[in-house]
Amino acid sequence: MARISASVFTSHVPAIGVAIDQGKTQEAYWQPLFQGYEYSRQWMRDNRPDVIFLIYNDHATAFSLDLIPTFAIGTGTEYFPADEGWGPRRVPKVVGHPQLASHIAQSVIQQDFDLTIVNQLDVDHGLTVPLSLMCGEQPVDGAWPCPVIPFAVNVVQYPVPSGQRCFNLGRSIRKAVESFDEDLNVQIWGTGGMSHQLQGARAGLINQEWDNCFLDQLVHHPATLAKVPHIDYVREAGSEGIELVMWLIARGAMADVDDPARTPTVKHRFYHVPASNTAVGHLILENG
Ligand code: DHB
Ligand code: FE
Repeated sequence: MARISASVFTSHVPAIGVAIDQGKTQEAYWQPLFQGYEYSRQWMRDNRPDVIFLIYNDHATAFSLDLIPTFAIGTGTEYFPADEGWGPRRVPKVVGHPQLASHIAQSVIQQDFDLTIVNQLDVDHGLTVPLSLMCGEQPVDGAWPCPVIPFAVNVVQYPVPSGQRCFNLGRSIRKAVESFDEDLNVQIWGTGGMSHQLQGARAGLINQEWDNCFLDQLVHHPATLAKVPHIDYVREAGSEGIELVMWLIARGAMADVDDPARTPTVKHRFYHVPASNTAVGHLILENG
């Protein structure tokens, strides 16, 4: 049986990818941020999964206003880094896991979540920056440590899914993984956030108090956090802070949600302001 061993939560700021790709990680501006992920890179080496289920949002890169899936699961064999305007990042292609992805699609759709099935998808910074942060620099002809199932959530064009729906979806994803008939160690990653607003009169907004409260609630009271309405994210964490609803999918997939005795262990927590226009938050939770 496959099982989810841990969840990882991290921001995906595109400038972090540029800093890695241009060898700037030890510059004064970036060094404190990358230092916060040193533990995580060692943890990844010590806890290498068989598959990463990576929840992220596409930033009008693979999808556009022509086609806006609320939840899209990648069932393909491979995915290439997208050209976001400056050429594709020189990082390895992402190898998929079509068998597990197709099983999750089957199971989750049977549990009444209507997923869009995607076989061809270029992946943008929302997916590649978390991989770089957690796995370190990789040569373009190298490989990420394991296959990745991309799971794209629409948090760009309203209406976007509620925190409650994301949390419930996470529960269904855990059930789907646990009904896959192969012994696989799966990590589930929720990416995006934390507070940031990239446009309009409040561009540059960062709310450290709200972010840290979000991290506390995500660890200890996720079911309560799931009830927070969109307007609170937008008001308190900025228009792009709504990316944080994706973290509730990964948190909803942890074992304690249905079995309170299985309290997760917080292996790592990190918060840093700013990276580009964004507050960076990061958590690693291991299943109890
Ligand atoms: C920035 C952050 C994001 O999450 C994003 O998708 C694009 C830009 C930023 O801080 O510049
Ligand atoms: Fe983003």
